Amino acid sequence: MNIALQKGIPSKPRVHPGCELQGWETLYDETSLWIDAAAVKGEVPTDIEGTLFLSCVGRNKIGDQQYGHFFDGDGMINAVTITNGRVHYKNRYVRTPKYVNETAAQRILYRGVGTQIPGGMLKNMFRAPGNAANTSVILHGGKLLALWEGGKPWELNPTTLETIGEYNYEGGLASSQPFSAHPRLDPRTGSLYNFGVFGVPKPKLHFYRIDSSGEVRANRSQYVGDYSMCHDFAISENYAVFVLCPAFMRRPFRFLFGLSSILESIDFDDAEKTKIVVMNLENGDIVKEYEFDAFFGFHLGNAHVEGDELFVDALCVDQMDVMDGLSDVFAERGVDFRFQENGAVLNRFTLNLNSGCASRSPVNGALAGEFPVWHPDKTGLENRYTWLGTIVENGTPYWFNAMQKLDHHTGEMTLHDYGEGRFTSEANFIRRAGSNAEDDGYLLSIVYNHARRKSEIVIVDAQDMQTEVAVIPLEHHVPFGFHGGFYNEVFEHAP
Ligand SMILES: [Fe+2]
Repeated sequence: MNIALQKGIPSKPRVHPGCELQGWETLYDETSLWIDAAAVKGEVPTDIEGTLFLSCVGRNKIGDQQYGHFFDGDGMINAVTITNGRVHYKNRYVRTPKYVNETAAQRILYRGVGTQIPGGMLKNMFRAPGNAANTSVILHGGKLLALWEGGKPWELNPTTLETIGEYNYEGGLASSQPFSAHPRLDPRTGSLYNFGVFGVPKPKLHFYRIDSSGEVRANRSQYVGDYSMCHDFAISENYAVFVLCPAFMRRPFRFLFGLSSILESIDFDDAEKTKIVVMNLENGDIVKEYEFDAFFGFHLGNAHVEGDELFVDALCVDQMDVMDGLSDVFAERGVDFRFQENGAVLNRFTLNLNSGCASRSPVNGALAGEFPVWHPDKTGLENRYTWLGTIVENGTPYWFNAMQKLDHHTGEMTLHDYGEGRFTSEANFIRRAGSNAEDDGYLLSIVYNHARRKSEIVIVDAQDMQTEVAVIPLEHHVPFGFHGGFYNEVFEHAP
């Protein structure tokens, strides 16, 4: 399928194979500086006031030993402060035991999702994976927390990004309860909802409700099936929605006895069903369950209720091959993702809460994509627009190089192509001050630019999807990574 032609944009032959490679490389330096205003292309909007906290996978190896999966590199937090038209950039590794001890030893000491400790079975037997704190970062209840779905949050100082320590909500999370990297904030109450999956061979789904002050108010653990992986979920005003794909750890002893990594011990069984579980948002009671033919997906979009029907958006792909593909990014150079043939596409699920009937269909105009975002005030309510990253045939389709805007009312898709040799992180939507239009705002992301061999902070007009309002150059690359969020708080004050 030629996506570029489909959208009326001439397809370009592939050029600069491997030009994204520096985006996978380790960034050792930790910096903190105001960007020279004269170096900015365009103008930094003065109605943006706040901080983008964005995680990335800062380190892909230790000594001469490469990590075995994108998910196993060490977490680095980037803080982009925008205030009065000025921009400050800061980055710092999360000092987890994995980071600290491996730095001292200069070799791999911890198992990961797809990484084994070199040395065979005895080195890995009965060893739990190390928390890489590399997947997301949130600011809630006065705490800045770096997240990784298999373990506890790591608390950071929001001004300096210095690591304070592992955080369990003052005992609100039990020692066996992980805290996923995809919590959802209810913009109306300030409550944060999250979950974790843990247990071998019978995993439990742990559901948490945390009030705006950061206190755990509900903590519910229940068995919902042998589903070993759940990366994300969605909330409506009254429900939590989990999409549980048939990825099962059917050979747990191989993992426990150190014979294989977690990833190698999990099988996607396409003869089984993908289950959607709807819970009461207040207490985690199961309200309804639905089954679909097997599909896989990491991320969900938004959810909302109209009458008896619960609508939820989720990225869907037939197989789980992407997990294997992400094993190669540090080791093999020039991975060709063939994203439009194999990538996940946003689907809208319609779940009748009364009859139990359910259906799904692809969102009109959607290209394969990842990292969906929407206006934060719309979480749990109907949102007209969803923005998400994609990979288009712009000459360098080697990592996320474009952003798609989906209009759920008209079915139109609008694309921002960052251009040949430019690769973007997840974008965060920032509303334009004083505007009530749902798409009136900015998409803020960090883009690796191969022509400069460095990264830049890019602000795109989220409404027209054409204008790069400001391009703010950095003097180094920022490694590829995952998630973060934009907050109105400013912790760095202009000189
Ligand atoms: Fe994610």
